[in-house]
Amino acid sequence: MKLHEEKTLVLLKPDAVQRNLIGEIIGRFEKAGLKIVALKFVLPTKDQAYKHYVKNEAEIIALGQRSIEGQKRSGIEVKTDPKTQGQEIVNKLVKFLSSSPVVAMVLQGNQAIAITRKLVGSTEPLQSAVGTIRGDYTVDSYALADSGDRAVRNLVHASSSQFDSEYEIKAWFTKEEVVDYKNVRDKILYDVNFDSIKE
Ligand SMILES: Nc1ncnc2c1ncn2[C@@H]1O[C@H](COP(=O)(O)OP(=O)(O)OP(=O)(O)O)[C@@H](O)[C@H]1O
Ligand SMILES: [Mg+2]
Repeated sequence: MKLHEEKTLVLLKPDAVQRNLIGEIIGRFEKAGLKIVALKFVLPTKDQAYKHYVKNEAEIIALGQRSIEGQKRSGIEVKTDPKTQGQEIVNKLVKFLSSSPVVAMVLQGNQAIAITRKLVGSTEPLQSAVGTIRGDYTVDSYALADSGDRAVRNLVHASSSQFDSEYEIKAWFTKEEVVDYKNVRDKILYDVNFDSIKE
């Protein structure tokens, strides 16, 4: 596969849809130069949300581990083991993702996985940089989410690796729903030789 044919799965989570940010967020990906190759509006079932978040059991423990490390860094008393902590987070994520419609899409472009995550920003909106989607459009934090016993509302999901993107694209779209097409803008991004553009 060529670098500029890489694909990534993006979800506009229930908070993005409820806050009428669909157009704004999709616009950011479009303006950056990424190409939409699949798009749908869907109310996920709990099973669909679980399948999305839990690719294997190890993932639950890793999520719990990251959360516990964060708690330690913030001086919060750690009360559970990684597996229990991870399972609790997954339950909240599933509840959140299946609570209201989401927009699922596949973006394609040069190193689309990394470029998309750069545009989205870091996971906790409290920490995500200004200029990123999470940094510019929301204000949530783990502390606030924990105090409400809910998942952090960070507007967007974006695949984090080649393995995840392949798994997640299959989880949300059939093969036929992902459309291979040429977008004229791709010529400027990837093909045109600027030495000959005057002619
Ligand atoms: N330390 C944590 N405490 C609580 N919830 C967390 C923590 N880390 C992640 N999450 C939740 O789990 C989701 C998935 O976490 P992950 O580490 O994959 O972050 P991400 O890749 O930036 O986000 P996403 O997968 O949603 O794009 C996050 O969107 C967030 O809601
Ligand atoms: Mg992730």
